[in-house]
Amino acid sequence: MKTRIFTLDEIDKAAELLRRGKIVAFPTETVYGLGANALDEHAAGAVFEAKKRPSFDPLIVHIAASEDVHRVARSIPDAAQRCFDAFWPGPFTAILPKRKDVPDIVTAGLDTVGVRMPAEENARRLIAASGTVVAAPSANLFTHTSPTSAEAVLDMLDGRIDGLVRGGNCSVGVESTIVSFCEEVPVLYRAGGIPLEAIEECIGPVRVAPSVGEETKAPGRSLRHYAPQTPLYLGRIPEDFTGQKCAYIGFGQVPDTIRGTCSRIINLSEDECPAEAARNLYRAIRTLDRSDAEVILVAAIPETGLGRAVRDRLRRAAEDGFHVY
Ligand code: TXA
Ligand code: MG
Repeated sequence: MKTRIFTLDEIDKAAELLRRGKIVAFPTETVYGLGANALDEHAAGAVFEAKKRPSFDPLIVHIAASEDVHRVARSIPDAAQRCFDAFWPGPFTAILPKRKDVPDIVTAGLDTVGVRMPAEENARRLIAASGTVVAAPSANLFTHTSPTSAEAVLDMLDGRIDGLVRGGNCSVGVESTIVSFCEEVPVLYRAGGIPLEAIEECIGPVRVAPSVGEETKAPGRSLRHYAPQTPLYLGRIPEDFTGQKCAYIGFGQVPDTIRGTCSRIINLSEDECPAEAARNLYRAIRTLDRSDAEVILVAAIPETGLGRAVRDRLRRAAEDGFHVY
């Protein structure tokens, strides 16, 4: 398959592909998505195939206008509506009771559906021009790091997808926050681009789902989901790495001992800003994963604001048993 590449001026052509049941990657403010007409089960199936994604992992449906939530969701609880008013368009995904119009393949057979209206204007232009609602997982191969640039998409999916809308780098850099409104109390399924603190300010207490388990409901929460090929160690420096080529992902000041031992250093945020760290995270992992580093060491990052999402992704990328947060 030849992957057609579209500029931001050619979004209509990309939308035409979506209308014809093809699959097209596009920029959002979080990460690049791999889109398909969410109401067409064959198109949605092609997304799973291109990503090598197991069929039990449901897709998020993306909409161009908030009233389109009614095209896929049966009912909107008050708390969800308050979140839409506060966080849409933006990196916020609501899990809601699904309408029958959404094919089972999109939701992996669940009777709930994830819905998000992205802030990235080019994403909304594409969805609006397609005339439908767009199912889109992150545009990476299953278990690989999510792409925050068009180049990263092509590295993994060139020749496996019908099209790519080439935009700039993603401004948020980690995936959307996922909150389920299908239980008695809203549940945080995935930390992401909207901080938990902001959500609780909007709707009151949210239950934080444990990060492992319940994998059929949110397999995105399984460990090693965002894993690089190179072993990655979080939060403390093991002593037995002498002789290995070490790389370091920093936050704030880089310790002198690190300067002495690590040949490559990428600082996520010298100013200790969690949002800046989120923006730089996946590119840093990707860059170091492709370098000659044999291990990647990562600084501790505070769990406030977007730091929660950054730490969550790093924890999944880390070797089991080596994180000390
Ligand atoms: O920021 C984002 O959310 C990006 C961009 C492209 O919008 N998309 C994204 O999609 O991260 P994906 O497929 O990589 O992650 C979606 C997560 C998966 O872990 C999936 O299990 C969960 O959302 N999910 C989707 N629908 C669900 C549902 N009905 N119930 C529970 N979890 C759901
Ligand atoms: Mg993903």
